[in-house]
Amino acid sequence: MKYTSKYAQAASLKTPCLVIGIFEGRRTDATFDALDEASGGQLRSVLRKGDLRFCAGDTQMLYEVPGIAATRVLLLGLGKQKELDARAFAGALRKAAPLLQQANLRSAAIAMPETGDSYGMVREAVNAIEGALYRFDQCKSDAEPPRHPLRQVIFITHDRRHLRRMQKAAEHGLAIANGSALARDLANLPGNICTPSYLADQARKLGRGKRKLKVSVLEEKDMQQLGMGALLSVSRGSRQPAKLIVLEYKGGKAGSEPVALVGKGLTFDAGGISIKPSQAMDEMKYDMCGGASVLGTIAASAEMELPINVVGVIPSSENLPDGAANKPGDIVTSMSGQTIEILNTDAEGRLILCDALTYTERFEPAAVIDIATLTGACIIALGHQAGGLMGNDERLAQEIEHAGEASSDRVWRLPLWDEYQDQLKSNFADMANIGGRPAGTITAACFLSRFTKSFKWAHLDIAGTAWTSGNDKGATGRPVPLLTQFLMKRARVVE
Ligand code: BES
Ligand code: MN
Ligand code: ZN
Repeated sequence: MKYTSKYAQAASLKTPCLVIGIFEGRRTDATFDALDEASGGQLRSVLRKGDLRFCAGDTQMLYEVPGIAATRVLLLGLGKQKELDARAFAGALRKAAPLLQQANLRSAAIAMPETGDSYGMVREAVNAIEGALYRFDQCKSDAEPPRHPLRQVIFITHDRRHLRRMQKAAEHGLAIANGSALARDLANLPGNICTPSYLADQARKLGRGKRKLKVSVLEEKDMQQLGMGALLSVSRGSRQPAKLIVLEYKGGKAGSEPVALVGKGLTFDAGGISIKPSQAMDEMKYDMCGGASVLGTIAASAEMELPINVVGVIPSSENLPDGAANKPGDIVTSMSGQTIEILNTDAEGRLILCDALTYTERFEPAAVIDIATLTGACIIALGHQAGGLMGNDERLAQEIEHAGEASSDRVWRLPLWDEYQDQLKSNFADMANIGGRPAGTITAACFLSRFTKSFKWAHLDIAGTAWTSGNDKGATGRPVPLLTQFLMKRARVVE
């Protein structure tokens, strides 16, 4: 889809559909009032007669409104006037997008509300529209090529000073949406197609033709040499070889410390010998969403040519039961030299991540963020609204919280107090790989914290946010928006 911005009087704009916002309780702003005046009061009269209160996302399509050049006018509820922000504006457009698609229009124009942050509103709106129109039908035999009649969306402003900002916002929004779509595609693919080797190939493909992006893949023999005993122990139970995917995006100054993103790339998690119940086990194909978000974020960064250095590290493996698989009680030695007693083979994410985190030290990163569908407990704690955030650096954690707010991709802080570390005590090794049922999300982070002492580190548990279950089962692309916003802020591309 093409997104543009235009300075125009909404009333005289020729378009198949003009979208105009109304606030809850049929309140209106100057943008609406000008349009109403052009229609000779027709719009307001419709509002008065109408049944809708125009809560967020409510819509009403009108045809042949006098005095207005558009063929259709779509009245769109934007929620409470006082609460209008990028998140609310985008939320309403997310609901309206399918309607525009079904109406068989080639293009639509959206009149910007009178007030509010025009950069944020346009960026989040583009991201929301793209997200709402996303389809995954790669695995359907009869998939018709999507009949995407909607080709162009134009944001209309009556204030010229906003135009440049809005143009940038549209570019950024599209890059973020494209990165999210890449993450969603990879995550929606089933485990028999999206294997560690497939993920590695996709990473290589992403690097093709991009001078600033270098992609390399470590094989099991390389990991053996590095002493990655924890990562390799997980992969031993699988017939698919593990891969450690490394992406280096060099958009910043040579020699400036990179941000490292480390994403769990478990392409299918059956639990291993500590096998999972069969109920909804198919959803464990999503256990690579952390890795997919790293690829999506780096893709978005490259598309925007962000002036920053970023390293992506994706440990990728399957976790299956097998004669060679980890057994409860097994003790393995991680790359850091620390030994781990594996009391539950289903706590495998931390085993592949710990070696990837130790490996990341060599890049001397300015900050490290790991992203993982790590614990079911995180879904119990925070639901599907917010990811879990923990870490060893206050300022980094705050930066990430802000990035989540600014990108409508929120996370919530959980404590990482020393007191929790006791739960990882092992009678036989340096630590156990599980800490019991209480605070499962936190003890998983405690485990990782033992491998992140040499850098500023934050951990995102995305078990609740990376995909949706039920009838609308599918990957969400989160937290690509948060991570991209974080990098944009560090690169000083946004305020
Ligand atoms: N990939 C799962 C976490 C998960 C579970 C994500 C359900 C989304 C939905 C992870 O590898 C796992 O199995 N974690 C265990 C840890 C436990 C054994 C300490 C869990 O959460 O049950
Ligand atoms: Mn598991
Ligand atoms: Zn897992």
